Amino acid sequence: MASRAKVTVIGAGNVGATTAQRIAEAGLADVVLVDIVEGLPQGKGLDLAEAAPVVGHDAQVIGTNDYADTAGSDVVVVTSGLARQPGMSRDDLLMKNAGIVRSVVEAAARVSPEAILIVVTNPLDAMCHVAHRASGFPRERVLGMAGVLDSARFRTFIAQELGVSVEDVHAFVLGGHGDTMVPLSRYSTVAGVPITELLPAARVRALEERTANGGAEVVALLKTGSAFYAPAASTFEMVDAILRDRKRVLPCAVLLQGEFGVHDLFVGVPIVLGRGGLERVFEIELTSDERTAFEKSAAAVEELVQKLPA
Ligand code: APR
Repeated sequence: MASRAKVTVIGAGNVGATTAQRIAEAGLADVVLVDIVEGLPQGKGLDLAEAAPVVGHDAQVIGTNDYADTAGSDVVVVTSGLARQPGMSRDDLLMKNAGIVRSVVEAAARVSPEAILIVVTNPLDAMCHVAHRASGFPRERVLGMAGVLDSARFRTFIAQELGVSVEDVHAFVLGGHGDTMVPLSRYSTVAGVPITELLPAARVRALEERTANGGAEVVALLKTGSAFYAPAASTFEMVDAILRDRKRVLPCAVLLQGEFGVHDLFVGVPIVLGRGGLERVFEIELTSDERTAFEKSAAAVEELVQKLPA
């Protein structure tokens, strides 16, 4: 009898627990929630399991501090890490989260050697490098979640601006996650019509800027902590594309090996995502302005990667 797929979610905080909830409630896979804090993943896992009869699904959810329980996972989602604390520089955060991501990926990869890794911890593109090295996995099985979130934000703002359904809005973003991301408005459409034909250039620019600052806008409102509903929904979309072999075309951070003129760097680009993970980089032509912005974004990723311990 076919058994359900198994997904491990490392980090039982806001993003991890919400991702676990989405996966379980969709009945997509059994979920193992892992955290370094004792009791936290067990408590949230039990709570999620107790929601199952009401929600109506049969996925198993457990929480643990022991990687043995994660063995044989099909997908491993990495959300563990620290948020930036007052007085902590971006570089301090980079080093702290690099240490956390390295240790959790080593432990998880050892017992799930065939898994596909989805990295969510920030700074995203640099953490993908750490996960790639720590796992020893081929590039097809190490993916970063950022582009789906960034384009979801862009789609939200476009739909609100034009008063249309989000369902009919498609948006395209490239590049690193953060200030240097590159929204491609030319390829962002409402029912197939580019938004550059529907909105004045200044409004398009404003929506692009709001998208690039989308994470910071939520942090400023929440004051403690960062966004998690949209990040979890975006992570779920990637897990779903993989486990159901949907061949979705989604922007993900992947290790480029010459595509878009970039070598050995994780940067967000559209890919075909299926049961094999990265199945194809979906290369598109860029205008010279877009290319310049993309190269600037890749350079910002490179700068962080250079700072990582070897
Ligand atoms: N092993 C396992 N879990 C760990 C470890 C570790 N070594 N170190 C920290 N954690 C756990 C924490 O105990 C915490 O429960 O990671 C969890 C992080 O959860 P939150 O602080 O709630 O952070 P969250 O909002 O979920 O964001 C997680 O995703 O979007 C990114 O920028 C965000 O990097 C951040 C990550």
